[in-house]
This record gives sequence, structure tokens and C-alpha cells, in this order.
Amino acid sequence: MRVVDKSELMSLVAAGLPGQYRPWQVVWDLTYACQLRCTHCYQMNLDWNVKRQLPTERILETLDEMRDLGTQELLFSGGDPFIVRDFMTFVERAGANGFEVVIYSSGQGITDHVAQRLAQCGVSWVELTLMGADAETHDTVTQRRGSFVKLLDAVRALSGAGVATVGKTVVTKQNLHQVPTLMEMCRELGIKFKCDAHMWRPWNGSEAQISDLKLDRAGMQEFYRLYRQPGPQDRSCAMGVAMCNAGRSRAGITPFGQVNPCTTYGQGMVIGDLHEQTFTEIWLNSPMLRRYREMTSKSYPKCDACEMSAFCDWCPGLSSWAGNDYTEPYAELCDDTEIKKELWEEGTGKHWVPAPVVNGEPVLIPTIMRRPGLDPANQG
Ligand SMILES: C[S@@+](CC[C@H](N)C(=O)[O-])C[C@H]1O[C@@H](n2cnc3c(N)ncnc32)[C@H](O)[C@@H]1O
Ligand code: SF4
Ligand code: SF4
Repeated sequence: MRVVDKSELMSLVAAGLPGQYRPWQVVWDLTYACQLRCTHCYQMNLDWNVKRQLPTERILETLDEMRDLGTQELLFSGGDPFIVRDFMTFVERAGANGFEVVIYSSGQGITDHVAQRLAQCGVSWVELTLMGADAETHDTVTQRRGSFVKLLDAVRALSGAGVATVGKTVVTKQNLHQVPTLMEMCRELGIKFKCDAHMWRPWNGSEAQISDLKLDRAGMQEFYRLYRQPGPQDRSCAMGVAMCNAGRSRAGITPFGQVNPCTTYGQGMVIGDLHEQTFTEIWLNSPMLRRYREMTSKSYPKCDACEMSAFCDWCPGLSSWAGNDYTEPYAELCDDTEIKKELWEEGTGKHWVPAPVVNGEPVLIPTIMRRPGLDPANQG
């Protein structure tokens, strides 16, 4: 492996990076601290030690490095990023650097004044966790009485300031029946609505911690039938893993300055530490990242050979999330994928057959381009 020294690194940056690997999207979890204690939160077991968080100056320098490396989208998340003392300074710098700035929040710290400042910084949108269509359901999940009312205040403040807002729901046993009401509520509030029924096990924890909330097989079937009719993804109609952008054009950062290819890895694959290295050094020179970028579908042999992969939302980060070797499947997603395939078969009356594989490669049937006039269907 060739090691790039600091002066060479700077000339590389000045000359433009080797084409394809730019950190277009960075997701930065600025803290694990939060005003709420959501019973579904995958961060519930994490250490909130603020002393290990990066100093303000270091965060600002890193944001400037990202600008020079070509970052386009900066997503600040947490915990709740509004808890971080200099958060608005970071948002300001990210906006000034020309990033599309997105913020995930509990909504508890967004007053009219904060919303106005977000608008001035050019924040593109804010996503707020919305766990129920009424105070009782939402506050039961967040374990903070009054959190629903504060959330609605945040929505009004953001709307008043003209900042686009999304209400985002993790669908659980408690709120599955409320999905239509949540949709209608968001429509009336003038914000977008997003929901997802996948619930991931807490980091450093177990499934048992979320079993009261998590949809079972019948619940997942109901969710898909009502709200998201599954189908094979265009990427293949074949077997094999669609390689994602993690580490190629995406990076994640933990509150303690650990850099990973995507936040789904958490502490599961740390490619560098901002307490000791610059973001540029890590992105250009991490040996682990270089190896990761060389991986192909074949590096994930079981998923590569899986006949249902066109229906699967698997990613290596999620396997790592579940505490597995990241090249292995994630059993829970195999179950979920089977449900989706069965529902697709039920809906279409067809039997799913992936493209045939010859010499280890899927054979895709070329689409026949039809020109009007030559198409028998268009003749006379
Ligand atoms: C960890 S939170 C951090 C940002 C902010 N506090 C919020 O709630 O949006 C990011 C998103 O992850 C979702 N989330 C939390 N725990 C989850 C889990 N176990 N499975 C799936 N999504 C989860 C939250 O509901 C939220 O939409
Ligand atoms: S608001 Fe977000 S970070 Fe806070 S407890 Fe809920 S899901 Fe977790
Ligand atoms: S996670 Fe399971 S269902 Fe998904 S591609 Fe891998 S083996 Fe197939």
C-alpha cells in the first residue's frame, strides 16, 4: 500500500481528487444526548459522555475540509443536535460552505427564534420524529409528557419561518392503526410524512428491548399490504448485491469523532478518528476504507447468491448494526424479504424467478427498443 504524506495530500486536494471518491453526503451524529427517551431508540444504551465530543474549532475545520473535498449534503443528526452548545454555529458554517443542510431532530428545541435562524442559514429541510397522532401515543413512546405539544410547536415555528419539514414515523404495534391519521395530520399541518416499519435492534443491546413495539410477521404483512406494496427493485431482477455508496461517496461521523463509511456501522467499522487525523487524511488514505471500496457483490457470497435479493433492503452496515460480520446476511431482513416476495407473488399471481445465472453472472434479457412504425402494434 502506498502512503500519501501531508504535502502530497495537499497537492492532491489542490489538483482535484481522484475522480469517483468524493464524500458527497456526510451524516454527522453530533451527540447521543437527547431530551427524550424513546422506547424504540437504537441509541438507548449508548454512552453520552460529552467530554469525548470534538471541540467546536475541530468541527468547523472539518466542515471546511468537507467543502474542499466536494461535499454536497450535510445531514446533522443525534441524539438531538439542538442540544449541542454550538450547533447553530455549525449549521451556519455548513450553509456558508454551500452544503444542502438537513437536520434530524426530536423537535423539542425548535422555537420561533431557532426556526428563523435555520431559515437564514438556508437549511434545506428538518425531519422530526413523530411517534403518534395524539399526545398519549407519542408521549408514551418518548417517555416525556408534553413532547407531542412541543413537537407541534416546532412544526408551526418551522412552517412560519418557511423551512420545509417532514414528520417521520417508525411504525410500531402501538401506532400502526394511526398511519392514516398521521398522514392526514401532516397534510393538514402542511408538512411531508414519511414512515417505515423496520425497527432495528438497539446498539449494544438486544431485540428484547424493543419487542413490545416491533411489528411481528402479521404486522409487517399488514403494513406492506396497506402502505407499501413491495416489488422487485429495478437494480437487478437478478441475483447479487447492489453496492451502496457507503465509503465511496458517503461517510458517517460519530459524536466522538470516529469516521465510518456510513452511520449504520456506528462503532462497527471505524476508518479513522478526528481527534488524531484530519477528515481529508482519513477519506484519502484510510487503509480500511481502501479495502472496503474494492469490495464487490462477490465479497458478500451468501447475499450474492440469494434468489430473493431483488426484494431485499439489506446492506452490510445493517449486518454490522446487528452485531454480525458485515459480509453475512442479517436474518431479520431475510424474513422481511421473504414476506415482500410472497406479497409480490400474491399481488401479481406470478412466481418469482430471478434472471438465470451463467458462469456465476446473471444473464439480463435486453430490452427491445421499439420504433413507432416498426412496431406491429402501431401498423395500420
Ligand atoms: C436516532 S434518531 C436521531 C435524530 C432525532 N433525535 C430524531 O429522533 O429524529 C434518527 C431516526 O432514527 C429513528 N429510530 C430510532 N430508533 C430506531 C430503531 N430502533 N429502529 C429504526 N429507527 C429508529 C428515529 O425515530 C429517528 O427517525
Ligand atoms: S428523539 Fe431521536 S434520539 Fe431522541 S430518544 Fe427519540 S429517537 Fe432517540
Ligand atoms: S439479507 Fe438475506 S434475503 Fe437479503 S440478500 Fe442477503 S441472504 Fe438474501
